[in-house]
Parts: sequence; C-alpha cells; structure tokens
Amino acid sequence: MDMSGKVALVTGGASGIGAASVRRLAGAGARVVVVDLDTDAAHAIADELAGLALPGDVTDPATMPAAVAAVEEQYGRLDVVFLNAGITAGQSGIEDLDLDGYRRIMGVNLDHVVFGLTAAVPALRRAGGGHIIATSSLAGLTGMPGDALYTATKHAVVGYVRAAAPVLAGDGIVVNALCPGFTDTPLIAAAAGAFHDAGFPLLGADDLADAVVAILERGQPGECWFVQPGREPAPYGFRGIPGPIGSPRPPDISWEDH
Ligand SMILES: NC(=O)c1ccc[n+]([C@@H]2O[C@H](COP(=O)([O-])OP(=O)(O)OC[C@H]3O[C@@H](n4cnc5c(N)ncnc54)[C@H](O)[C@@H]3O)[C@@H](O)[C@H]2O)c1
Repeated sequence: MDMSGKVALVTGGASGIGAASVRRLAGAGARVVVVDLDTDAAHAIADELAGLALPGDVTDPATMPAAVAAVEEQYGRLDVVFLNAGITAGQSGIEDLDLDGYRRIMGVNLDHVVFGLTAAVPALRRAGGGHIIATSSLAGLTGMPGDALYTATKHAVVGYVRAAAPVLAGDGIVVNALCPGFTDTPLIAAAAGAFHDAGFPLLGADDLADAVVAILERGQPGECWFVQPGREPAPYGFRGIPGPIGSPRPPDISWEDH
C-alpha cells in the first residue's frame, strides 16, 4: 500500500491496535496524527514517526473538531480517519450500574465515533474523498456476556457505520467498521493469563494493522470486517432482515425532512 501524500489520523493511536496501525500507515508513507488521552505516549510515537501528537480526551465534543482543524492547518488535508480509541466497562451493567462508568464507556466507545465521523466528513470532502474506519469488535456482532455495556457500545458502532456509509459513499468517503477478536494489548492484559491457560489464541496488534490495510485497499462502504486468529480478515456476512410479505423495498426517508 502506498500512502505517500496522504494524511491519517488515529484515535487511541498511542497503544495497542492504534499504535500498530499508526506505524503501518507511516511505513506506507502517510503522515500520521495521533489523538490519545496518554499525552506522553502520544508524543513518543508521533516523534518516532515524524508525525503529529494531539493529546486529548475524545469524549469531549470539542476534541475531534479541533484535531481535524489542526491536521488541516498542519498538513493541508485529511485522507484517513481511524476512530479506534476504546475502553472496557469494568462493571456488570446488568445486575447493577455505576452511572459514571456507564457515561464513560458510552463517551469513549460511541460518542467519540459520532463526534469523530461528523468532524471528519467536511475535511474528507475537501480532500476529494477518503476513508473512515471505526473500531468495533466481535462484541459488535454478537453478545459478550462478560461485558454487556461494551457489547452495547460496539453494536452501536456497527449500526452507525452501516447507516452512515451509504450517505457518504457518493462523496467518495468509504466508512467501515473493524471488528477484532481478542487481541493481545493492554486493554485485555488482566485476562491474558486466562486466555493462555485455556489455550485460546490471541491476535497480535500487527494482525489488526494488516486488517486496516486490507480495509483501506478493498473495503466497500458499510462493511464490518471481522478479524480472527488464523483467518483472512473479511467483511462479516449480515443476513438480510425479513421484509413485509409482498412489499417493495421501503422508500429512502430522511428524517430531517419530517
Ligand atoms: N484488545 C482487544 O481484545 C480488542 C478486541 C476487540 C476490539 N478492541 C477495540 O480496539 C480498540 C483499541 O483497543 P486496544 O486493544 O488497542 O487497547 P489499548 O488500551 O492498547 O489502546 C486504547 C488506546 O485508547 C486510548 N484512549 C482511551 N480512552 C481515551 C479517551 N477518552 N480519549 C483518547 N484516547 C483514549 C488509550 O489511552 C489507549 O492508548 C478499542 O476500541 C477496543 O475496544 C480491542
């Protein structure tokens, strides 16, 4: 993949999947921008790759618009946006609910994707098109009973991507979701021993960087790509939902008109 002359912004780019992807994108010739809560780590990887660090909290509605503006000011364009920052809930969310924690995971895993996509679209249009990838999870495609709130946020990301993609495809903006299986990063460090003891294979962060490249090269609007150990990353095959018997497709409705 040749990304010479392209500019890529990655949220959560200071660790794990984001950091591996930032390195891969920079290796392909892109200028990279790291948005991350971890100021020191964001500067460290940006300095290493001659990129731009924009430390910030992606749950703040001002962070992504400011980041997009800073990227355009610094580099004159924006081509790829990887909305990847994410956290786990660390609580049941079923038997009991810590409200601050609930707001936090909704803020990082869902609000940030909505704030990031809406902030990026005008810049991608100015660049003549581009690519937005939002990190969901296999928990965006099936229920993960151990973390119901995480599952809810990642399903929401899949739904948002699938609804936004057809709207933006006409402008040459391709929107996809990345749905990793369990990946050996700091996010799941506490459970790494359990996976090891069970003989369950984990992905490496580089496997997800490979998948990001595959999506940038071959992703079609609205596809949600699963990634599992030993398998080629590929779009998940959603089943069509049953329509009313004997009816045509529903009309395209813009609720803004109603
Ligand atoms: N590791 C897995 O098993 C796995 C599986 C499926 C999906 N994912 C998803 O992949 C994405 C990346 O996770 P990872 O495994 O690389 O984790 P990670 O913890 O290594 O990296 C997450 C990064 O996001 C940053 N971040 C967290 N909250 C932030 C905020 N409010 N503002 C800005 N930055 C913030 C962190 O500082 C960190 O650098 C997440 O969306 C996660 O849900 C991970």
